[in-house]
Formats: sequence, structure tokens, C-alpha cells
Amino acid sequence: MRYFGTMKNNNGILEIGGVSIKELAKEYKTPLYIMDQQLIEDNMKKYIDNFKSDKFKTEIVYASKAFLSKAMCQLADKYGLSMDAVSAGELYTIKMANFPMNRVHMHGNNKSIEELEMCLDLGVGIVILDNILEIERLGELADEKNKKIKVMLRVNIGIDAHTHEYIRTSKHSSKFGESIFDKNIYGIVEKIINYKNLEFLGFHCHIGSQIFDTKAFHEGIETMLKFTKSVSEKLKINIQEMNLGGGFGVYYTEEDTEIDVEKFMHSMVEHIEKTLEKENMNLERVSIEPGRSIVGNAGGTLYSVGGTKETYGGVKYVFIDGGMTDNIRPALYQAKYEAVLANKLNEKPEEIVTIAGKCCESGDLIGKDMKLAKACVGDYVFVSTTGAYGYSMSSNYNKALRPAVVFVKDGKTALSIKRETYEDLVSKDIFLNL
Ligand code: LLP
Repeated sequence: MRYFGTMKNNNGILEIGGVSIKELAKEYKTPLYIMDQQLIEDNMKKYIDNFKSDKFKTEIVYASKAFLSKAMCQLADKYGLSMDAVSAGELYTIKMANFPMNRVHMHGNNKSIEELEMCLDLGVGIVILDNILEIERLGELADEKNKKIKVMLRVNIGIDAHTHEYIRTSKHSSKFGESIFDKNIYGIVEKIINYKNLEFLGFHCHIGSQIFDTKAFHEGIETMLKFTKSVSEKLKINIQEMNLGGGFGVYYTEEDTEIDVEKFMHSMVEHIEKTLEKENMNLERVSIEPGRSIVGNAGGTLYSVGGTKETYGGVKYVFIDGGMTDNIRPALYQAKYEAVLANKLNEKPEEIVTIAGKCCESGDLIGKDMKLAKACVGDYVFVSTTGAYGYSMSSNYNKALRPAVVFVKDGKTALSIKRETYEDLVSKDIFLNL
């Protein structure tokens, strides 16, 4: 397993943020999401320091769907990042974290009236409009409330980035945005600018998630700038902004060649600057929306081994006290992970095992054919790179309790999200009146 951030082998015991996983398990129990705060902060700084230009302003918008908690909002605010939300629930959480709402960008392909009203009432910075119906809804609501709001239009630029089918977002038949190839696309933009309370800033695209192919992003830059220019010329309007979305791929296993953020941010900025010059264009601001690449490697999940089993069919199982309820990604996307026995780092990983969860579901696996040291009851399994889309996609299937999330830094721990309780499980459950 590759070590990230502050991860260390301290006499055979895994240590993160200067804290031993044994202490973490004792204090917070397992399963437990552990977030390396220093690594999150370093990743945020990396984006802020490297996605910079003398020609235009830049904005890093953290895609909160990857992992959202009050602590994350505090860190994003500390480093001057903005926040991307995609639902009323995310907006509410961000608001409750006292994050400045004028630095929130609201997404979604089917925003409800309630969500659009919330954007106007909470003073959300930018609404990324997805389609015509939404333009009309927000335009009318803004008129009714007599409130101005900044908007962008999400466009589908038809770039087929090579990633899992479910997380590709820019194929011609994707549900997101309006296609730049649509004959009516100029009419759609005109519709926005005709609403007096919608202030049109420019276009947004997001070509997919967990993308390693940097060419796809470069193609995206060219396509977006040329498209922006054509709209600006045709409609004789000044377009100030462009948002290129997120999707920068991270390392999960040896099969992944992650994007080097520092290098890639420089090459993106350079490419944007050159294309602006070539096309004789100006932009006031360019934004990007990284999610996974800020929190992915910074999070890991700690489990206790409850038992092992060798089947008649020859598969050796290591049973952990969590599974698909805290990490649905292997079942949903055939995602692969690396893992260690976190209390036996100095023992050779010579067993080939399948790590299985507790759910009543054969697909409840964290990984097949994983190399681990010989596991015994009471050992700790640590699965790395679960920081993005782990907690945020967790569930209560089989009435599992969502684990706690703890931040670690400089030898200290801070509980960020409490473990659910049995009372939580029935707190919304109401008897029939029989
Ligand atoms: N911006 C927009 C508009 C997005 O839809 C997304 C992700 C992002 C930014 C952030 O992408 P990132 O940098 O995190 O790759 N549940 C899936 C990932 C779904 C991504 C959805 N949109 C997974 O677990 O792999």
C-alpha cells in the first residue's frame, strides 16, 4: 500500500497525523474514517498556489460532494477556496458551517423550486444553470423576489474522457448541461440574458471524474474558449468567466497514474493564457472544481477484523466490521483499493484474501485478491484513499451505523462527524396508529 501525507510505519503500527491507529481505534472505535488534515491543507494550498495567472483571476471551488462536513468548510474557508454544492442539503450544511455563501456555486441537473429559492434567499454566489426550464424558473423567481443573481450555463462539450461509464459526464447523451452542438444553444444563452435579474457570467463544463488523460482537459480548454468566443461574437456580449469543472484523477492502486496537480495546474494556466492570446480574447476569471484530488488520498478507513474464513471454493475471506455501507465504490464502480493490516506493518503481506463486509449481500466486498499479512481476530485493516465519495455515499443498509469521521494533525485528534447511534436509526421512524 502506498503511504500518503503523514502516514508512517511506527514499529509496525500505522500512524497518521502523528497518532497511532491503535489509539484511534481505542478512542473512536471502528469502522472509522480518518482524515489527514495536513494533507487536505497541503492539497488545498497546492491548488491555490499553482492555479494562478497574471492574465486572469482564478478560483478553486471545492466540490463538496466528495466529502462535506463543517470541518471541511472551515478548512476551505481558511485557504480561500469556494464551495460547490449540488443539493439543498449540501447548501444547508455549508450555511450551517458559516461558510460565506457568496463563495458558493450551486449545481444540479434538476434543481427544485425550493433549491432555487434557497439560492436567492441565502445569497449563493453563482447558480450553474443546467437547462431551459431551470433558466425560466430562476429568472422568474429572481424577478418575483426582485433579487439579482449571478449565473453560468453548464454546457456539454462532447469530450469522451476515459473513466468509468457512471462518472463520465460529457458524452453527447449525458444528462448534464446543454450541448454546445445544439442548434438552439445561442437562443438558450439569449434567454438567460433577457432576464433582467440573471447576470450571465459564462460557461461551465465538467468532463467527468477520476480522469488521468490530461489531453481531455486540454481539449476541454480549447473547446470552451472557442465556444465562448463564438457566443460572445454572435450575441455581442462580454463573457467574463469560464469554469472547467473537476475530475483530476488520483492514485488508488498501481493501475492508476495520478495527475501531478502542481505540474498540471501550470500547464492548464499556460494553455488558457496562450489560447486567449491566440483567439484575441480576455477573461476576468477562470475556475476549477476539484473534489477527489483534495480529499481522496487524505482519507482512509480503519476496520477491525471480526473473523476469517477459507471457503470450499478456495477463497480466503477477511471479515471486517464495515463494508459497502461505508464504501459502496467497489460494488458500484468495481473500484479497487489498497489495504494493509495496520497493526502488522512489519509482517510480510503473503496472504491473498478477499476483504468482505458485514452486509447481507455477496457483492459487499472491499477488494478481491488483496495481499495482506496473516489476519487474526482483533487485527486492524486500513483501506487507503477512501477520503472522497466514501462517507458522502455511505448508507444505513442493514441498519448499519455510519462511522465517525476523525481529523488528525500534529499528534492531535478532532472528531469531525460523530458515529451514528441506534437512536439515530429509529429517530425518524413512526408507529402506525393501530
Ligand atoms: N464539478 C462537477 C460539476 C462535478 O459533477 C464533480 C463530480 C466535480 C466537480 C468533482 O469531481 P472530482 O474532482 O471529485 O472528480 N461518486 C463518484 C464520483 C462522482 C463525481 C460526480 N461529480 C465516485 O465515487 O467515483
